[in-house]
Amino acid sequence: MNDRLRNPVSLEESAFWMPFTANRQFKKAPRMLARAEGMYYYTPEGREVLDGTSGLWCVNAGHCRPKIVAALQRQVAQMDFAPTFQMGHPLAFEFAEKLIGVTPKGFKHVFFTNSGSESVDSALKIALAWHRARGDAGRFRLIGRERGYHGVNFGGISVGGIASNRKHFGPMVGGVDHIRHTHDPLRNTFARGQPQHGAEFADDLERLVSLHDASTIGAVIVEPVAGSTGVLVPPKGYLERLRELCTKHGILLIFDEVITGFGRLGKPFATDYFGVTPDLIVTAKGITNGTVPMGAVFVRDEIFQAFMQGPENSIEFFHGYTYSGHPVACAAAIATLETYADEGLLTRAASLAKHFEDCAHALKGLPHVIDVRNLGLMAGIELAPRPDAPGKRAFEAFVKCFEQGVLIRVTADIIALSPPLIVENPQIDRIFETLSSVLRTLE
Ligand SMILES: Cc1ncc(COP(=O)(O)O)c(C=O)c1O
Repeated sequence: MNDRLRNPVSLEESAFWMPFTANRQFKKAPRMLARAEGMYYYTPEGREVLDGTSGLWCVNAGHCRPKIVAALQRQVAQMDFAPTFQMGHPLAFEFAEKLIGVTPKGFKHVFFTNSGSESVDSALKIALAWHRARGDAGRFRLIGRERGYHGVNFGGISVGGIASNRKHFGPMVGGVDHIRHTHDPLRNTFARGQPQHGAEFADDLERLVSLHDASTIGAVIVEPVAGSTGVLVPPKGYLERLRELCTKHGILLIFDEVITGFGRLGKPFATDYFGVTPDLIVTAKGITNGTVPMGAVFVRDEIFQAFMQGPENSIEFFHGYTYSGHPVACAAAIATLETYADEGLLTRAASLAKHFEDCAHALKGLPHVIDVRNLGLMAGIELAPRPDAPGKRAFEAFVKCFEQGVLIRVTADIIALSPPLIVENPQIDRIFETLSSVLRTLE
């Protein structure tokens, strides 16, 4: 036994290097969660915290759902791990079939990963390898969008559009460019649902086509609704226009549905909600209801088929993770899909969206609130930053809400809300009432 185990250190000296966290500040004044059930977390002292964020946009069916817990427990005792490289296990095949039952039309194959970041990088690689498989290897460029969040791996931060996630990491992946974001505060503030103005922002792709030539561009990746950058809802007609332009120029369109997937907008996927079909769909989070790390990339049939050429004994795609299709993740994911189906959760947000929207927009006029945006069960409430301390005002709101028993999420000065899809109207009321009273107290 080493010294540290014999004499436990204080939290301030803890070995845990926390992700996306102000480590020293947190360790001085921690916010801990010890248990969860349904719509609630519980602190180690037993205080109830209403989950307004589905954990981190992932616990769509609510916490510790019995069917999912039981499936996990059974599977880990039966077979803890099995490789899926040149080997297989039935659950991965079973889950892939079941997943295809809920994917948008035309998506008949899935590639498994362990996170949203891995799904993004896998999708980018599939896109490039697909062009090459068709003899079009000159299409090496990847286009992202300003303010996009596509996880933290090198592919994802390269196509991502958030400066703080990029600036520390050198030149990143080569051959990447970005179209402009869709946020237009002059014309669209306090829009309910999709903003009226800005379909033409999709035409920014034409600028990059003029600059680089379409023959060098492989794929465009966007979040249908940008989540982590503060809930930016696509203007009416924008995604349709982007689809048109990608088709016109032979560019693959990738939707990153890590947040919008599995019911967030009131349809199974944003692809269904908007009626705009990309070529690849990136998912994670809600796929296992957040219980076990897992992600999946859905590909259109033509894309999969282009890989299934050449000698049968050759590996068609040199890519995969030790844990792609992990049996415990598959067991959790099958039980998650069953829970979604049993309770109608992939479409339930549609019936809650209006009340959620009304509550969100009732914050208009409160101190510091400069914009409210929403779609389905997602809302972004933007606060005016303090001139000397951007981000601080929203962070104070986050801490105060937590102290008053509601978990919200903040990025810079934007508050994001995305409760589990099992939420009831009185719980929606409580989330917004707590936030509203906190906003009144902020300097
Ligand atoms: C749109 C989007 N893509 C990718 C990711 C990355 O997912 P992960 O954190 O599981 O790697 C996220 C995470 O929030 C996301 O919101």
